[in-house]
Amino acid sequence: MEHTFIAIKPDGVQRGLEFKLVGIKVVVPSKDFVQKHYHDLKERPFFNASCDFLSSGPVIAMVWEGEGVIRYGRKLIGATDPQKSEPGTIRGDLAVVVGRNIIHGSDGPATAKDEINLWFKPQKLVSYTNNAEKWIYGDN
Ligand code: GTP
Ligand code: MG
Repeated sequence: MEHTFIAIKPDGVQRGLEFKLVGIKVVVPSKDFVQKHYHDLKERPFFNASCDFLSSGPVIAMVWEGEGVIRYGRKLIGATDPQKSEPGTIRGDLAVVVGRNIIHGSDGPATAKDEINLWFKPQKLVSYTNNAEKWIYGDN
């Protein structure tokens, strides 16, 4: 099968958008691993099904950085149940049922910290300055 290599070049990265991508990988997580990811749901009736699903194939895992990125991410993703997600959100536009809702986003700072630690070794995250940051955030 054909493959292609795509890279965003430094100018594209620097011109960026609001948020910065600082980590990305493609992985098929084990069931054991996703049980850790979803540990807060272990008493819920859908825990096992959610773990089976999340470990059923390749996942694209990313870490994004920026002020308010957790809340913004959740807004962009939409409500847990796609039937209740607003149009214009990823789940609202692209998913149909709650058990197949396409995308995950950390629900708060503590969860984000835990999830990033679980999915990424710190040395795999890249720290860099985006030249547009002064225009995005101002001087303070
Ligand atoms: P994530 O971003 O995936 O963590 O979703 P969430 O934060 O919007 O919801 P939550 O953490 O409460 O649930 C985790 C996942 O379990 C959801 O994304 C759903 O796939 C699944 N889930 C949540 N509630 C239900 C439910 O009532 N029924 C079923 N079948 N699955 C559910
Ligand atoms: Mg969640």
